[in-house]
This record gives sequence, C-alpha cells and structure tokens, in this order.
Amino acid sequence: MIINIDNLLRDNIKNIVPYSTARDESKGKKVEIFLDANENPYNTALNRYPDPKQQKLKEKIVHNQQISIKNLFLGNGSDEVIDLLVRAFCTPGKDKIMIHPPTYGMYQVAAQTNDNEVVKINLTPDFQLDVEEILKQSNDKVKIFFICSPNNPTGNTFKVTDIERLLTKMNAIIVVDEAYVNFSEKPSWTKRLLEFPNLVVMQTLSKAWGVAGIRLGMGYASERIVQVLNSIKLPYNLNTLTQETAINVLDNIEEYRQKVETIKAEREKLFVELGKLPVVQKVYPSDANYILCKFNDANATYDYLMQKGIIVRNRSTQPNCENCLRITVGTPSDNEILIKHLRVYFI
Ligand SMILES: Cc1ncc(COP(=O)(O)O)c(C=O)c1O
Repeated sequence: MIINIDNLLRDNIKNIVPYSTARDESKGKKVEIFLDANENPYNTALNRYPDPKQQKLKEKIVHNQQISIKNLFLGNGSDEVIDLLVRAFCTPGKDKIMIHPPTYGMYQVAAQTNDNEVVKINLTPDFQLDVEEILKQSNDKVKIFFICSPNNPTGNTFKVTDIERLLTKMNAIIVVDEAYVNFSEKPSWTKRLLEFPNLVVMQTLSKAWGVAGIRLGMGYASERIVQVLNSIKLPYNLNTLTQETAINVLDNIEEYRQKVETIKAEREKLFVELGKLPVVQKVYPSDANYILCKFNDANATYDYLMQKGIIVRNRSTQPNCENCLRITVGTPSDNEILIKHLRVYFI
C-alpha cells in the first residue's frame, strides 16, 4: 500500500502556518541588542526565551545515529508527542485511534480529550498483537495505531514481522512507543524509519536516561510528519533548563550505561527471586525496567506491600492481567527489601 501522509492529516492542519517567534526571525543574523521579544533585558541566565527549534539538543541526540534532524521532533515528554499526533491526524468526533490493551494509558486519554473513539484490540493471551483482528477492524476512520514495544505493563517486545505487516497493510500512522527500548537487546525501529513513511517511533529521557523530571520525549518520523508536529507545537515547548540539562545528561554516556546495565542485571535477579516465592504464580519475562508478576492474590499483596512502605502498580483489572502487579526494578537494596518482605508473606 502506498501511504500518503497528507491524506491522513486533518484538513485544517495540512496548510497550517506555524507561529513565527521573535527568535525565529533573528536567527542567523548578527544581532547584539535584542529588543524584539519583550524580554527583560537584565541577565538572569534565563531572561531570554529558549531556542524554539532546539537545534543544539537535536544535534546532540542524532549524533552517532544515522538519523537526520529533519526526522526528529522533541516534546515535553513523549506524552506531548502522543497528544500532538492525535490532534494532527484525528478530527474530533469523527476519527479514531486503535490500541492493544493492556497498554500505556495516555493514548486513550489523549484520544478522549480530542473527542476521538478508541478501538481496543486486546493482546493475545501470550501478549502478542492480534494482527488478524487489528486488520479486520481497521478502516479509514482509524488514523493512528499506538503500539507500545516493549509493552507497558507486560514488558515484552512484539514480533518484528507483525509490526512490519501492520506498517504496510494499515492506511494509518503506526506509532511504536519505545519508552523502554534502552533496557532491551532488540533493535530500535528508528533504524527502519526511511522504509515506512507512516512510522513514528517515540523514545524518552524519562526512563533509562534517568531524567523524568525534565520532561523530554523524542518522536522520530518522516520529514512531513516532523514538519507538521513542529508547526502545531507550542513555540517554546521545551524550556531552557530542560534543553541544557538534556545536553549534559547525553554527554554523560558512561553513567547512563552503568545504570542501565545494573538495572538489567537486577531485573534478571528479581525475575529469578520472584519465581521462587510461594505467593507468585507466574513471572513474565521483561525487556523493560519492570516485571509483570501474577500473584495468588494481587490486591492483598498490593496492600501488604503498601503496609511495608513499598508501592507497586496494580494492573489486575487490565485484560489478561488478572492478579498481576507491575514491579519497577529498583536499586539493589530496594529489590532486596521487596523480596525479603515477600518471602515471609503467604496467602
Ligand atoms: C510506554 C510509555 N510511553 C510513554 C511514557 C511517558 O513518557 P514521558 O515521560 O516521556 O512523557 C511512559 C511513562 O510511563 C510509558 O510507560
């Protein structure tokens, strides 16, 4: 199928003229006195507006990757990327998004906020995409399919061949949310960007990079999609502190590697230890920094851990997740305390 992004876009978005900031107009010119943006002239290090194009940060992010800046959009967390995609492609009250429960909750919130129906195709019992059902239920109203891989909360990565099939068979934007990809051994879909005009890959600095507090998410996509997202974002969506901190964090690659390796090693330990507990029925393998675990009684176990001052995520109401808790991998000491309490808990 030949996919034309403009045929998927909302009509009012196709030719939108982005807000031109004062900074955009002064860019590239030799200016010493800035009297164009109604800023306060006295230097506080933050008295000037941030770079709306986030040039330096983007260069840092694509450095060492075979990706052009034209294929990169930056958002205030990947949550902003989700929201902008829905608003760019889905006409309120008319278009739909598709998701695969159990999955990350923000896709549905973004769609409902924009008055778009959510088509839900549950994962199969072994937590894979139900490709036949997805294709059966796609139609010209379904504009975006959000695939979360590695999936939150199940922790697994979906089959490459299934995603390839959806990318070529669905006349829709296929978003692969890779928030947890840095904890996985499987390759990122960013490497396949040029093959699929309808592919959007999302990543974030919130997880492996350890800076959820600065709010920085990446959307990798074809040039046209990035251009559209840039034209509808708030002009200064990434503040100066975020841009500067992100550049520093990305420079500190050794620290990042060490933390990711420790978390992965702890995940494997936790997987084994959880599996030995009498209160545990099943531990699901994970490519992420959390483990989904089926207990004899998830609600009682959740309350017990809470009494011990430990909070985990109760996912037991999600499809195919009865009695399941999602446990984030903590520090070695966090994990030890968790296991110590669970060892003496019988239900
Ligand atoms: C799958 C998934 N995508 C996106 C996000 C949000 O990421 P960000 O902090 O970049 O908004 C999360 C956060 O938990 C997530 O689990």
